[in-house]
Amino acid sequence: MSKKIKRIGVMTSGGDAPGMNAAIRAVVRACAYYQVECVGFYSGYSGMIEGKYEELNARSVRNIINRGGTFLRSARSAEFKTKEGRAKAAAQLEKAKIDAMVLIGGDGTFRGGQLFCNEHNIPVIGVPGTIDNDIFGTSYTIGYDTALNTVLSAVDKIRDTASSHDRLFFIEVMGRDAGFIALNTGIGAGAEEILIPEEDLGIDRLLNSLEKSRRSGKTSSIVIVSEGDKTGKNVFELADYVKKNLPYYDSKVTVLGHIQRGGSPTCFDRVLASRLSVKAVELLLDNKKNLMVGIKNEEIVTCPLDDVIKGKPSINKDLIRISEILSI
Ligand code: F6P
Repeated sequence: MSKKIKRIGVMTSGGDAPGMNAAIRAVVRACAYYQVECVGFYSGYSGMIEGKYEELNARSVRNIINRGGTFLRSARSAEFKTKEGRAKAAAQLEKAKIDAMVLIGGDGTFRGGQLFCNEHNIPVIGVPGTIDNDIFGTSYTIGYDTALNTVLSAVDKIRDTASSHDRLFFIEVMGRDAGFIALNTGIGAGAEEILIPEEDLGIDRLLNSLEKSRRSGKTSSIVIVSEGDKTGKNVFELADYVKKNLPYYDSKVTVLGHIQRGGSPTCFDRVLASRLSVKAVELLLDNKKNLMVGIKNEEIVTCPLDDVIKGKPSINKDLIRISEILSI
């Protein structure tokens, strides 16, 4: 027989993402609505291991829906990757009388959560929160839409100066091993070339394309480079290589970096965070475990954590074709 869930813990782990606060708020308020207690653990799995938590009620999460980052803070815990670390966390949860956990984070968070649930029989539900959008089982992760818009606004600004000085800009964006941010912002910002990890078209193709651009009358160009791209060169080496081979280009490099993780979440991310997190609480109250909530075709769906961890989300190859057509 499953245990009645009376007290739920929530935490954020891995790289922070805009909308995590909206997700915590929705977990806390759904708990209040269904009259179960809610506890927030600080700094992801580290806070669980150290027993750092706070009781949360509906009023504890006022005025945070619009805030970037995560007020519970986030971390990547090496200790939780060990069996001993997970056992310490389980002992702390028992001490704090926690019946189940909502884990907000990315694939590393879910890998740990799945092991934890299996080893200690503590129900967990994952809520996908990462700017990378690299999670199997959902079309969108919390924070991705905000990051896209942050990148877009930065690239638009760079375009102003690029065109004023007839320059070629290499702009590196985040995404770890996935090219979702690069591909979508590349199209949205009208980039001449987009380099993503999923599609290695070779460095010579980049030279040919830039040469063609110059011949066709373009005076400035933008190349979006995903941090995980497979050219074998980092963005600075790439710019040097192009400078050497196409000396008429005045090339510059901008690494957007962590600016992409900050800022007030977009409406899309706030609504997504709210829907996914309410569902996470409802699933736990319905005695479900070891699942991640996601969104597909506008519907909230669930996927076993095991599949989430093993799966790899694929990019839409048609976007590559669109980008090629439009960068003529
Ligand atoms: O997973 C989110 C992310 O921002 C990735 O895009 C990036 O590769 C990584 O985290 C950076 O991590 P850190 O903040 O630890 O440098």
